[in-house]
Amino acid sequence: MSRLLMCPPDYFGIEYEINPWMRMSNETESHRSQEQWHNLKITLKQKAGAKIELMDPVKGLPDLVFTANAGVIFNGKAVPSRFRHPERQQEERYFIDWFTNQGYEVIDLDSTYYFEGAGDLLAFEDVWFAGYRQRSDFGAYDRLTEVFRKEILPLELIDQRFYHLDTCFCPLSGGELLYFPQAFDEYAQRVIKSRFDPSRRLVVPIQEALRFACNAVCIGRHVVLPTECPETMGLLLQKGYHTHPVELDEFLKAGGSAKCLTLALD
Ligand code: ARG
Repeated sequence: MSRLLMCPPDYFGIEYEINPWMRMSNETESHRSQEQWHNLKITLKQKAGAKIELMDPVKGLPDLVFTANAGVIFNGKAVPSRFRHPERQQEERYFIDWFTNQGYEVIDLDSTYYFEGAGDLLAFEDVWFAGYRQRSDFGAYDRLTEVFRKEILPLELIDQRFYHLDTCFCPLSGGELLYFPQAFDEYAQRVIKSRFDPSRRLVVPIQEALRFACNAVCIGRHVVLPTECPETMGLLLQKGYHTHPVELDEFLKAGGSAKCLTLALD
């Protein structure tokens, strides 16, 4: 059973601009974001069999819905995020409180580094992949290697539209990778190729990468992803996955989609 943390979008909105997707003039519609978030939650539960844990939304913290950025949890240990932008730094204590109340061993990162949690650190079999340069710092990953005792391969993100690793890179349970290569520098593209043979690399076309097709949640053979990504769905179907599209346009206005709205707890 896969457990995921989510936070209801009661106070979600665009109140500042910290990535190229966010425009304060592009207002969100509260009833639509509520409906889309609830559909995502139900789809994850009913179609993908996930168990959903909730945390309380907080007024004045519109991005708290993006629980992928709470931190990283593995083997009972939680490393909370240290956000790059002051706009999101106030979220840190609410995520830390949640981890503490749930009984996780909370491990602080060196305060000299920024680290944005599961938005930038993704597990895949024995190797973990980590995004850096846009939000998380390269330097954070030495300490995370020590804490989690996993090989971590840092990948440089070069396109501001794909500012977290989970916006352009999605390891799948069957050993394949769904990704958008141009979001990475050349060296990172080579590293990725060295770890996934061609038959396992599912390359998402730009127009669907820009719909955040890679921001998908994979649980067993089920993949929950944003709507209007037909080619991506085709690639997944060919590999035997069941695809579950959910409309999440309101969250795309903030630069997020399905995966950003969840945090894997085990
Ligand atoms: N507006 C948020 C930010 O820019 C969106 C976070 C999306 N989260 C993610 N895991 N990609 O920080």
